[in-house]
Amino acid sequence: MESSLVEQIPSSNQANRWGQLRDLAKLTALKQAPDGAFHLGHWWRGPVLYSLVQQYKPRNVLEFGTGRGYGAACMAQALFDAGLEGTIWTIDILPPEYPQEWPFDEGKGPELKQLALRDVWARHLPPVLTQKIRCLTGDSKSIMKQWHRSGLPKIDFCFIDGGHDYWTVKHDFIASLRVANAGCSFLFDDYTERRGYGVKRLIDREVAPKLPREAVEVIDTLSRDKTVYGEDVEHGMLLLHGEYIPPGLFYSRSAARRFQRQYWLHTQTRRLVSRVRALASVLRYL
Ligand SMILES: C[S@@+](CC[C@H](N)C(=O)[O-])C[C@H]1O[C@@H](n2cnc3c(N)ncnc32)[C@H](O)[C@@H]1O
Repeated sequence: MESSLVEQIPSSNQANRWGQLRDLAKLTALKQAPDGAFHLGHWWRGPVLYSLVQQYKPRNVLEFGTGRGYGAACMAQALFDAGLEGTIWTIDILPPEYPQEWPFDEGKGPELKQLALRDVWARHLPPVLTQKIRCLTGDSKSIMKQWHRSGLPKIDFCFIDGGHDYWTVKHDFIASLRVANAGCSFLFDDYTERRGYGVKRLIDREVAPKLPREAVEVIDTLSRDKTVYGEDVEHGMLLLHGEYIPPGLFYSRSAARRFQRQYWLHTQTRRLVSRVRALASVLRYL
């Protein structure tokens, strides 16, 4: 597993485009640390996604975790710039109309507002980009269960960046394999040792051992210092090159079904625990 892609990006002739994506990150991916300072986070995921979309030329892209739309917008820009027909299907629990805390910088310095994704996109993204993005609202489990029944197409590239715990990442990977065309590539965000993050465990223990070396690429996104909530975090992404993934390699139908049952049990238990905790904290004040 070698790191290479992002190191080639800054020296490419795309410097101007990367500057524009960085400005987009200021509108859709800025973060605020508990000490009040604003950080751009690992905005290099934008150029990574842009480059991969232009390389793979996918007809349909699936993104888990729309967030505030930075990744989806970068991929839409890549399709548009290359004159490619294509659609980004992006899943999030939060509806696009739902106002959320939104740190951003329109050029007058960073500020924090309550904004909805729909409004920010309408104001800052041209229709030629937003027309390429379809937001699917709901948790990934419900959306993926209905994928084929909803008439949604098979995918050619997948960006997994929704829930980051081991169970959800594994669910999203298995569910995306089920709707993927042969040759589909998968990019995972947050391939890191951070507590509560499951991408590394899934890849290192269950996915990479089944693949040839050239199928798995760790991408260092150059954001090593104080980028996420003031912590000194090493950030990486993990790319599975579709051309080296034989169909049906990872999970048999029965293994996938068994995992679905375990995942259901896991989410129910998690829900119950958080309700009990909430109740306990209310009772403490009575
Ligand atoms: C890190 S953000 C996504 C950032 C975005 N991909 C980008 O590049 O800008 C993660 C998003 O995943 C969503 N999310 C978390 N768990 C999810 C789940 N189980 N199903 C759907 N969305 C989920 C959260 O609401 C959050 O908006």
